Amino acid sequence: MASFRSRRPLAIMNVVVTGGAGFIGSHFLNLLVPRYPEHRFVNVDVLTYAANLMNLAPIAEAANYQFERVDIADRDAVDALFDRVQPDLVVHFAAESHVDRSIHSPDAFVRTNITGTFNLLEATRAQAQRRPVTFHHVSTDEVFGSLGPTGFFVETTPYDPSSPYSASKAASDHLVRAYHRTYGLPVRITNCSNNYGPCQFPEKLIPLMILNAAEGKPLPVYGEGTNVRDWLYVTDHCEAIWAVIQKGRLGETYNIGGRAEKKNIDVVHAICAAVAEETGRPVDALLGQIKYVEDRPGHDHRYAIDPAKVERECGFVPSETFESGLRKTVQFYLGNPDWVTQVRSGEYRAWIDRNYTRRS
Ligand code: NAD
Ligand code: TYD
Repeated sequence: MASFRSRRPLAIMNVVVTGGAGFIGSHFLNLLVPRYPEHRFVNVDVLTYAANLMNLAPIAEAANYQFERVDIADRDAVDALFDRVQPDLVVHFAAESHVDRSIHSPDAFVRTNITGTFNLLEATRAQAQRRPVTFHHVSTDEVFGSLGPTGFFVETTPYDPSSPYSASKAASDHLVRAYHRTYGLPVRITNCSNNYGPCQFPEKLIPLMILNAAEGKPLPVYGEGTNVRDWLYVTDHCEAIWAVIQKGRLGETYNIGGRAEKKNIDVVHAICAAVAEETGRPVDALLGQIKYVEDRPGHDHRYAIDPAKVERECGFVPSETFESGLRKTVQFYLGNPDWVTQVRSGEYRAWIDRNYTRRS
């Protein structure tokens, strides 16, 4: 086994954040860049359809923030980036993240989620021969498959992924763990439940339903609407990741969740109620937009996280309840029509291509 020098204390760090222009990664950067002016944060993102640099407006000009347009599936580009940046810490968010897309076009999921993670691990391993570097892998509870009506996912629950998305994330988790066991790479993994909040691409359940409700469009509920997800507000997830990076043990996995299980149909009802209150439209009209549609193939019935380990070892406590987080989320989508128009239009993509050429 290769030996790596012991970890430096969290003093001055070069932090590579992959996928920092996406939903969760942008919240992570917006929280940490101003909080740690002494650290340098490098956002590594290829800018897929799910990315939005507008989300990073609060930190775009910060002296300790920099953006690099790099495809993590491009091994040479990743190696060159790591040689330039010399990271002390890698926080890996970049992924293809939507289950429905993975059902229709799984190729990109294998390329980014598996090959991309492999490339980052190899680049981190090469750096680790020269300097201390730790790798934080952001993953999902979907790797565990589906629960029955009772019980919770714990860190030792066997992997049993159902979709190409969750299978590709499971593969990436296995690679990360293998690099710890085989090469002694200092890694940590977090598996989180469903996130929601401002700036999520409106293909996922909560933003899609908010916008469709407000625009008088159908609210497509898959199957019977009885599938259960465990919801966590996005900034609570970011704080949990940072708590694990600071306090979690190397080589360990931490499940992150906020003990907020809900049936999909109850989430849709709560969205209709919040949109009705915010817009003054009658809630019955919004509820009338609900349309039960064909179920998703391989649709996992229930996810539920037992977060006892991250609470006990890292002191994680979520700040938002589902009700308070949902209200903030509804207010964001109703209050930012320009953001919504921009992410839905091709104009933004054209702007990216004009302004950011890929590094390879
Ligand atoms: P997202 O789809 O909003 O953002 C993903 C980001 O990764 C985008 O900015 C995209 O441009 C970038 N990216 C994709 N392919 C890339 C590539 N080849 N090279 C460089 N960058 C690339 O995703 P998200 O919801 O912010 O999820 C972030 C991470 O958190 C993912 O790893 C996901 O599996 C995990 N996660 C998400 C949730 C959730 O509910 N959204 C829950 C648990 C875990
Ligand atoms: P989603 O936001 O895609 O997250 P995930 O599949 O990763 O859990 O979906 C959350 C739940 O909502 C899931 O059970 C599928 C369901 N769903 C619908 O019923 N209708 C929709 O239009 C979408 C996008 C999801």
